[in-house]
Amino acid sequence: MLTTSTFLPTSATIDLTALVHNLSQFRNRLVPGCDVMTVIKANAYGHGAVETAKALIRQGVSRVAVVSIEEGITLRQAGINAPIVILGPLFPEQFTDLFSHQLTPVVSDAAILPKLGQAASSFQTPYPIHLKVDTGMGRLGFTQEEVAQLFGSKTFPRTLHLEGLMTHLADADGADPDATQKQLTQFRHVIGLVTANGFRVPLIHAANSGGAIRFPEAQFSLVRPGIMLYGYHTLPKSVPVPDLKPVLSLRTSIAQLRTVQPGQKVSYNGTFTATQATRIAVLPIGYADGISRHLSNRGHVLIHGQRAPIAGLVCMDMIMVDVTKIAGAAIGDEAVLIGSQGADRITADDIANWTGTIAYEVLCTIGPRIPRHYHSS
Ligand SMILES: Cc1ncc(COP(=O)(O)O)c(C=O)c1O
Repeated sequence: MLTTSTFLPTSATIDLTALVHNLSQFRNRLVPGCDVMTVIKANAYGHGAVETAKALIRQGVSRVAVVSIEEGITLRQAGINAPIVILGPLFPEQFTDLFSHQLTPVVSDAAILPKLGQAASSFQTPYPIHLKVDTGMGRLGFTQEEVAQLFGSKTFPRTLHLEGLMTHLADADGADPDATQKQLTQFRHVIGLVTANGFRVPLIHAANSGGAIRFPEAQFSLVRPGIMLYGYHTLPKSVPVPDLKPVLSLRTSIAQLRTVQPGQKVSYNGTFTATQATRIAVLPIGYADGISRHLSNRGHVLIHGQRAPIAGLVCMDMIMVDVTKIAGAAIGDEAVLIGSQGADRITADDIANWTGTIAYEVLCTIGPRIPRHYHSS
Protein backbone atom coordinates (compact mmCIF):
# COMPACT_ATOMS: atom_id res chain seq x y z
CA MET A 1 0.00 0.00 0.00
CA LEU A 2 1.37 3.42 -0.99
CA THR A 3 1.35 6.10 1.67
CA THR A 4 1.72 9.83 1.14
CA SER A 5 5.35 9.52 2.22
CA THR A 6 6.13 6.81 -0.35
CA PHE A 7 8.79 8.20 -2.68
CA LEU A 8 7.59 7.77 -6.26
CA PRO A 9 10.42 8.45 -8.70
CA THR A 10 8.02 8.28 -11.65
CA SER A 11 4.46 9.58 -11.66
CA ALA A 12 1.78 11.35 -13.65
CA THR A 13 0.00 14.39 -12.30
CA ILE A 14 -3.57 15.05 -13.34
CA ASP A 15 -4.58 18.68 -13.03
CA LEU A 16 -8.30 18.56 -12.26
CA THR A 17 -8.54 22.34 -12.53
CA ALA A 18 -7.42 22.08 -16.15
CA LEU A 19 -9.94 19.28 -16.75
CA VAL A 20 -12.77 21.44 -15.38
CA HIS A 21 -11.53 24.41 -17.43
CA ASN A 22 -11.56 22.33 -20.64
CA LEU A 23 -15.05 21.02 -19.91
CA SER A 24 -16.35 24.51 -19.34
CA GLN A 25 -14.68 25.89 -22.49
CA PHE A 26 -16.19 23.02 -24.46
CA ARG A 27 -19.64 23.49 -22.96
CA ASN A 28 -19.53 27.16 -23.90
CA ARG A 29 -19.54 26.10 -27.54
CA LEU A 30 -22.67 23.96 -27.34
CA VAL A 31 -26.10 24.88 -28.61
CA PRO A 32 -28.70 25.38 -25.85
CA GLY A 33 -30.15 22.09 -24.66
CA CYS A 34 -27.24 19.98 -25.85
CA ASP A 35 -25.91 17.73 -23.08
CA VAL A 36 -22.47 16.21 -22.63
CA MET A 37 -21.59 12.53 -22.24
CA THR A 38 -17.89 12.51 -21.42
CA VAL A 39 -15.80 9.75 -22.94
CA ILE A 40 -13.58 8.17 -20.30
CA LYS A 41 -12.65 4.92 -22.04
CA ALA A 42 -9.07 3.62 -21.98
CA ASN A 43 -8.69 4.73 -18.36
CA ALA A 44 -9.90 8.21 -19.34
CA TYR A 45 -7.25 8.40 -22.06
CA GLY A 46 -4.64 7.50 -19.45
CA HIS A 47 -5.83 10.02 -16.87
CA GLY A 48 -7.51 7.48 -14.56
CA ALA A 49 -11.17 6.68 -15.24
CA VAL A 50 -12.52 6.71 -11.70
CA GLU A 51 -11.04 10.01 -10.52
CA THR A 52 -11.73 11.65 -13.87
CA ALA A 53 -15.34 10.46 -13.83
CA LYS A 54 -15.85 11.72 -10.28
CA ALA A 55 -14.39 15.13 -11.14
CA LEU A 56 -16.58 15.45 -14.24
CA ILE A 57 -19.72 14.32 -12.43
CA ARG A 58 -19.04 16.96 -9.75
CA GLN A 59 -19.29 19.45 -12.62
CA GLY A 60 -22.77 18.26 -13.47
CA VAL A 61 -21.89 15.79 -16.23
CA SER A 62 -24.88 13.49 -16.26
CA ARG A 63 -23.50 10.42 -18.07
CA VAL A 64 -20.20 8.91 -19.07
CA ALA A 65 -19.13 6.53 -21.82
CA VAL A 66 -16.56 3.76 -21.84
CA VAL A 67 -15.92 1.00 -24.36
CA SER A 68 -16.09 -2.25 -22.44
CA ILE A 69 -18.33 -3.82 -19.84
CA GLU A 70 -15.22 -4.30 -17.66
CA GLU A 71 -14.55 -0.56 -17.75
CA GLY A 72 -18.17 0.04 -16.77
CA ILE A 73 -17.98 -2.43 -13.87
CA THR A 74 -14.81 -0.76 -12.57
CA LEU A 75 -16.68 2.56 -12.42
CA ARG A 76 -19.70 0.99 -10.71
CA GLN A 77 -17.45 -0.71 -8.15
CA ALA A 78 -15.90 2.69 -7.43
CA GLY A 79 -19.36 3.97 -6.51
CA ILE A 80 -20.25 5.82 -9.70
CA ASN A 81 -24.02 5.76 -10.05
CA ALA A 82 -24.46 7.97 -13.12
CA PRO A 83 -25.63 6.31 -16.33
CA ILE A 84 -22.70 4.55 -18.04
CA VAL A 85 -22.94 3.93 -21.78
CA ILE A 86 -20.87 1.08 -23.23
CA LEU A 87 -19.72 2.18 -26.67
CA GLY A 88 -18.00 -1.06 -27.69
CA PRO A 89 -19.44 -4.22 -29.20
CA LEU A 90 -21.78 -6.37 -27.15
CA PHE A 91 -21.80 -10.17 -26.84
CA PRO A 92 -24.72 -12.27 -25.51
CA GLU A 93 -22.40 -13.73 -22.86
CA GLN A 94 -22.17 -10.22 -21.37
CA PHE A 95 -25.91 -9.65 -20.83
CA THR A 96 -25.82 -10.79 -17.19
CA ASP A 97 -23.00 -8.39 -16.28
CA LEU A 98 -24.61 -5.63 -18.29
CA PHE A 99 -27.91 -5.91 -16.44
CA SER A 100 -26.51 -6.53 -13.00
CA HIS A 101 -24.40 -3.37 -13.17
CA GLN A 102 -27.10 -1.29 -14.85
CA LEU A 103 -24.90 -0.44 -17.83
CA THR A 104 -26.44 1.02 -20.97
CA PRO A 105 -25.34 -0.81 -24.11
CA VAL A 106 -24.87 0.61 -27.55
CA VAL A 107 -26.45 -1.97 -29.83
CA SER A 108 -24.63 -1.85 -33.12
CA ASP A 109 -25.51 -5.18 -34.65
CA ALA A 110 -28.92 -6.17 -35.96
CA ALA A 111 -28.54 -9.82 -34.96
CA ILE A 112 -28.04 -9.16 -31.25
CA LEU A 113 -31.02 -6.83 -30.78
CA PRO A 114 -33.73 -9.54 -30.54
CA LYS A 115 -31.50 -11.59 -28.23
CA LEU A 116 -31.06 -8.61 -25.93
CA GLY A 117 -34.80 -7.95 -26.09
CA GLN A 118 -35.48 -11.53 -25.06
CA ALA A 119 -32.94 -11.37 -22.22
CA ALA A 120 -34.56 -8.17 -20.91
CA SER A 121 -38.06 -9.63 -20.88
CA SER A 122 -38.15 -10.23 -17.12
CA PHE A 123 -37.73 -6.54 -16.26
CA GLN A 124 -40.73 -4.48 -15.20
CA THR A 125 -39.67 -1.52 -17.33
CA PRO A 126 -37.99 -1.54 -20.74
CA TYR A 127 -34.19 -1.64 -20.49
CA PRO A 128 -32.47 1.44 -21.96
CA ILE A 129 -30.24 1.03 -25.00
CA HIS A 130 -28.63 3.26 -27.60
CA LEU A 131 -28.77 2.13 -31.20
CA LYS A 132 -25.81 2.86 -33.44
CA VAL A 133 -26.03 3.49 -37.16
CA ASP A 134 -23.05 3.31 -39.48
CA THR A 135 -23.17 6.37 -41.71
CA GLY A 136 -19.63 6.08 -43.07
CA MET A 137 -17.22 5.04 -40.35
CA GLY A 138 -17.25 1.48 -41.66
CA ARG A 139 -16.96 0.08 -38.18
CA LEU A 140 -19.86 -0.72 -35.85
CA GLY A 141 -23.50 0.05 -36.53
CA PHE A 142 -26.72 -0.85 -38.28
CA THR A 143 -26.81 -0.09 -41.99
CA GLN A 144 -29.48 2.31 -43.17
CA GLU A 145 -31.32 -0.66 -44.70
CA GLU A 146 -31.24 -2.53 -41.39
CA VAL A 147 -32.70 0.51 -39.63
CA ALA A 148 -35.45 0.78 -42.25
CA GLN A 149 -36.21 -2.92 -41.92
CA LEU A 150 -36.25 -2.84 -38.10
CA PHE A 151 -38.57 0.12 -37.76
CA GLY A 152 -40.59 -0.60 -40.90
CA SER A 153 -41.39 -4.13 -39.68
CA LYS A 154 -42.22 -2.83 -36.20
CA THR A 155 -40.03 -5.48 -34.60
CA PHE A 156 -38.12 -3.26 -32.22
CA PRO A 157 -38.34 -5.26 -28.95
CA ARG A 158 -40.86 -3.81 -26.52
CA THR A 159 -38.69 -4.91 -23.62
CA LEU A 160 -36.11 -2.31 -24.64
CA HIS A 161 -36.27 1.48 -24.41
CA LEU A 162 -34.65 3.35 -27.30
CA GLU A 163 -33.00 5.99 -25.15
CA GLY A 164 -30.37 6.92 -27.72
CA LEU A 165 -29.76 6.94 -31.45
CA MET A 166 -26.19 7.55 -32.51
CA THR A 167 -23.60 7.49 -35.22
CA HIS A 168 -19.86 8.16 -35.25
CA LEU A 169 -18.05 10.64 -37.47
CA ALA A 170 -15.04 9.26 -39.31
CA ASP A 171 -13.42 12.44 -40.56
CA ALA A 172 -14.46 15.33 -38.33
CA ASP A 173 -10.81 16.43 -38.15
CA GLY A 174 -10.02 15.78 -41.83
CA ALA A 175 -9.03 18.44 -44.32
CA ASP A 176 -12.30 18.25 -46.24
CA PRO A 177 -15.63 18.68 -44.40
CA ASP A 178 -17.56 16.87 -47.18
CA ALA A 179 -17.41 13.37 -45.74
CA THR A 180 -18.83 14.63 -42.43
CA GLN A 181 -21.62 16.56 -44.16
CA LYS A 182 -22.58 13.37 -46.01
CA GLN A 183 -22.61 11.38 -42.78
CA LEU A 184 -24.80 13.99 -41.12
CA THR A 185 -27.22 13.97 -44.05
CA GLN A 186 -27.51 10.18 -43.79
CA PHE A 187 -27.94 10.36 -40.03
CA ARG A 188 -30.72 12.95 -40.34
CA HIS A 189 -32.42 10.59 -42.78
CA VAL A 190 -32.20 7.75 -40.24
CA ILE A 191 -33.55 10.00 -37.46
CA GLY A 192 -36.48 10.77 -39.78
CA LEU A 193 -37.09 7.05 -40.35
CA VAL A 194 -37.10 6.27 -36.65
CA THR A 195 -39.29 9.17 -35.60
CA ALA A 196 -41.72 8.56 -38.47
CA ASN A 197 -42.33 5.18 -36.87
CA GLY A 198 -43.47 6.74 -33.64
CA PHE A 199 -40.26 6.63 -31.60
CA ARG A 200 -39.33 9.68 -29.56
CA VAL A 201 -35.64 9.24 -28.83
CA PRO A 202 -34.38 11.48 -26.03
CA LEU A 203 -30.67 11.29 -26.87
CA ILE A 204 -29.49 11.78 -30.42
CA HIS A 205 -25.72 11.93 -30.76
CA ALA A 206 -23.05 11.95 -33.43
CA ALA A 207 -20.20 14.23 -32.43
CA ASN A 208 -16.89 13.62 -30.73
CA SER A 209 -14.89 16.66 -29.55
CA GLY A 210 -13.81 17.80 -32.99
CA GLY A 211 -17.18 17.09 -34.59
CA ALA A 212 -19.06 19.14 -32.00
CA ILE A 213 -16.76 22.15 -32.35
CA ARG A 214 -16.36 22.15 -36.11
CA PHE A 215 -19.91 21.15 -37.05
CA PRO A 216 -22.39 22.71 -34.58
CA GLU A 217 -25.19 21.07 -36.58
CA ALA A 218 -23.77 17.71 -35.42
CA GLN A 219 -24.53 18.51 -31.79
CA PHE A 220 -28.13 17.23 -31.73
CA SER A 221 -29.19 16.58 -28.09
CA LEU A 222 -25.93 15.03 -26.83
CA VAL A 223 -22.21 15.17 -27.68
CA ARG A 224 -19.42 12.76 -26.76
CA PRO A 225 -16.21 14.66 -26.10
CA GLY A 226 -13.04 12.85 -25.12
CA ILE A 227 -9.75 14.37 -26.22
CA MET A 228 -10.66 18.04 -25.71
CA LEU A 229 -11.43 17.40 -22.05
CA TYR A 230 -7.85 16.26 -21.70
CA GLY A 231 -6.53 19.39 -23.40
CA TYR A 232 -5.79 18.29 -26.96
CA HIS A 233 -7.40 18.20 -30.39
CA THR A 234 -6.60 17.16 -33.95
CA LEU A 235 -8.66 19.74 -35.84
CA PRO A 236 -7.09 21.62 -38.77
CA LYS A 237 -5.45 24.94 -37.85
CA SER A 238 -8.19 26.85 -39.67
CA VAL A 239 -10.86 25.73 -37.16
CA PRO A 240 -11.21 27.95 -34.06
CA VAL A 241 -10.97 25.66 -31.04
CA PRO A 242 -11.79 26.30 -27.39
CA ASP A 243 -8.98 27.39 -25.09
CA LEU A 244 -7.61 24.03 -23.88
CA LYS A 245 -5.04 23.18 -21.22
CA PRO A 246 -3.20 19.84 -21.14
CA VAL A 247 -4.35 17.98 -18.03
CA LEU A 248 -1.64 15.36 -17.63
CA SER A 249 2.04 15.76 -16.92
CA LEU A 250 4.53 12.94 -16.62
CA ARG A 251 7.72 13.08 -14.60
CA THR A 252 10.51 10.86 -13.43
CA SER A 253 13.79 11.29 -11.55
CA ILE A 254 17.40 10.74 -12.50
CA ALA A 255 18.38 7.33 -11.11
CA GLN A 256 22.00 7.15 -12.18
CA LEU A 257 24.63 9.31 -13.89
CA ARG A 258 27.82 8.37 -15.64
CA THR A 259 30.22 9.72 -18.22
CA VAL A 260 30.78 7.59 -21.31
CA GLN A 261 33.91 8.07 -23.37
CA PRO A 262 34.12 8.68 -27.15
CA GLY A 263 33.35 5.43 -28.99
CA GLN A 264 31.33 3.96 -26.09
CA LYS A 265 27.80 2.84 -26.84
CA VAL A 266 24.57 3.26 -24.88
CA SER A 267 21.61 0.86 -24.61
CA TYR A 268 20.58 -2.23 -26.61
CA ASN A 269 22.08 -2.83 -30.03
CA GLY A 270 24.52 0.07 -29.64
CA THR A 271 22.53 2.57 -31.70
CA PHE A 272 24.05 5.54 -29.82
CA THR A 273 27.82 6.02 -29.86
CA ALA A 274 29.37 8.85 -27.87
CA THR A 275 31.45 11.16 -30.08
CA GLN A 276 32.85 13.01 -27.07
CA ALA A 277 32.86 12.53 -23.32
CA THR A 278 29.10 12.36 -22.71
CA ARG A 279 27.19 12.60 -19.45
CA ILE A 280 24.37 10.04 -19.50
CA ALA A 281 21.46 10.04 -17.05
CA VAL A 282 19.38 6.89 -16.54
CA LEU A 283 15.64 7.51 -16.06
CA PRO A 284 13.34 4.82 -14.60
CA ILE A 285 10.60 4.84 -17.24
CA GLY A 286 10.41 2.80 -20.44
CA TYR A 287 8.20 1.41 -23.13
CA ALA A 288 6.28 -0.69 -20.58
CA ASP A 289 5.13 2.66 -19.20
CA GLY A 290 4.14 4.04 -22.60
CA ILE A 291 7.40 5.66 -23.67
CA SER A 292 7.38 4.58 -27.28
CA ARG A 293 10.45 2.83 -28.65
CA HIS A 294 10.07 5.20 -31.62
CA LEU A 295 11.46 7.89 -29.31
CA SER A 296 14.83 6.12 -29.35
CA ASN A 297 17.52 8.65 -30.37
CA ARG A 298 14.72 11.08 -31.18
CA GLY A 299 12.71 12.32 -28.19
CA HIS A 300 13.69 14.73 -25.45
CA VAL A 301 12.96 15.24 -21.78
CA LEU A 302 13.33 18.40 -19.71
CA ILE A 303 15.89 18.57 -16.92
CA HIS A 304 16.65 21.89 -15.20
CA GLY A 305 14.38 23.45 -17.82
CA GLN A 306 16.63 22.29 -20.66
CA ARG A 307 16.20 19.63 -23.35
CA ALA A 308 18.01 16.35 -22.78
CA PRO A 309 17.89 14.11 -25.88
CA ILE A 310 17.15 10.40 -25.51
CA ALA A 311 20.34 8.44 -26.20
CA GLY A 312 20.02 4.93 -27.63
CA LEU A 313 17.06 2.57 -27.68
CA VAL A 314 14.21 3.00 -25.21
CA CYS A 315 14.25 -0.06 -22.90
CA MET A 316 11.25 -1.69 -21.26
CA ASP A 317 11.80 0.07 -17.92
CA MET A 318 14.43 2.73 -18.57
CA ILE A 319 15.66 5.39 -20.92
CA MET A 320 19.02 7.09 -21.08
CA VAL A 321 19.31 10.81 -21.83
CA ASP A 322 22.28 12.98 -22.72
CA VAL A 323 22.76 15.64 -20.02
CA THR A 324 26.24 16.76 -21.09
CA LYS A 325 25.02 20.33 -21.60
CA ILE A 326 22.99 20.44 -18.38
CA ALA A 327 25.40 21.60 -15.73
CA GLY A 328 24.65 20.31 -12.26
CA ALA A 329 22.25 17.51 -13.27
CA ALA A 330 22.24 15.19 -10.26
CA ILE A 331 20.72 11.93 -9.08
CA GLY A 332 17.14 12.54 -7.90
CA ASP A 333 16.61 15.57 -10.16
CA GLU A 334 13.25 15.77 -11.89
CA ALA A 335 12.97 14.88 -15.58
CA VAL A 336 9.77 15.93 -17.35
CA LEU A 337 8.51 13.78 -20.22
CA ILE A 338 5.19 15.62 -20.63
CA GLY A 339 4.63 19.01 -19.03
CA SER A 340 6.45 22.24 -18.20
CA GLN A 341 9.74 22.86 -16.52
CA GLY A 342 11.34 26.28 -16.36
CA ALA A 343 10.35 28.14 -19.49
CA ASP A 344 10.05 25.06 -21.69
CA ARG A 345 7.24 22.57 -22.22
CA ILE A 346 6.79 19.19 -23.90
CA THR A 347 3.24 18.21 -24.85
CA ALA A 348 1.70 14.91 -25.89
CA ASP A 349 1.47 16.51 -29.36
CA ASP A 350 5.26 16.97 -29.41
CA ILE A 351 5.75 13.31 -28.55
CA ALA A 352 3.17 12.34 -31.17
CA ASN A 353 5.10 14.35 -33.79
CA TRP A 354 8.35 12.63 -32.85
CA THR A 355 6.79 9.19 -33.09
CA GLY A 356 4.35 9.62 -35.99
CA THR A 357 1.15 9.23 -34.03
CA ILE A 358 -1.50 11.36 -32.31
CA ALA A 359 -1.79 12.70 -28.76
CA TYR A 360 -4.60 10.18 -28.10
CA GLU A 361 -2.18 7.28 -28.41
CA VAL A 362 0.56 8.98 -26.39
CA LEU A 363 -1.86 9.59 -23.51
CA CYS A 364 -3.75 6.34 -23.43
CA THR A 365 -0.64 4.18 -23.59
CA ILE A 366 0.75 5.63 -20.35
CA GLY A 367 0.89 2.38 -18.47
CA PRO A 368 -0.78 1.11 -15.31
CA ARG A 369 2.56 1.05 -13.47
CA ILE A 370 2.65 4.85 -13.38
CA PRO A 371 0.97 6.23 -10.24
CA ARG A 372 -1.47 9.04 -10.97
CA HIS A 373 -1.69 12.01 -8.59
CA TYR A 374 -4.70 14.30 -8.71
CA HIS A 375 -4.59 17.92 -7.75
CA SER A 376 -6.71 21.01 -8.07
CA SER A 377 -5.06 24.40 -8.05
C1 LIG B 1 -17.83 6.39 -30.42
C2 LIG B 1 -16.93 7.46 -29.90
N1 LIG B 1 -17.46 8.62 -29.53
C3 LIG B 1 -16.71 9.63 -29.04
C4 LIG B 1 -15.34 9.49 -28.92
C5 LIG B 1 -14.54 10.65 -28.39
O1 LIG B 1 -13.73 11.16 -29.39
P1 LIG B 1 -12.74 12.39 -29.13
O2 LIG B 1 -11.74 11.89 -28.17
O3 LIG B 1 -12.15 12.65 -30.47
O4 LIG B 1 -13.54 13.51 -28.60
C6 LIG B 1 -14.74 8.31 -29.33
C7 LIG B 1 -13.29 8.18 -29.24
O5 LIG B 1 -12.61 7.54 -29.98
C8 LIG B 1 -15.55 7.26 -29.83
O6 LIG B 1 -15.03 6.11 -30.21
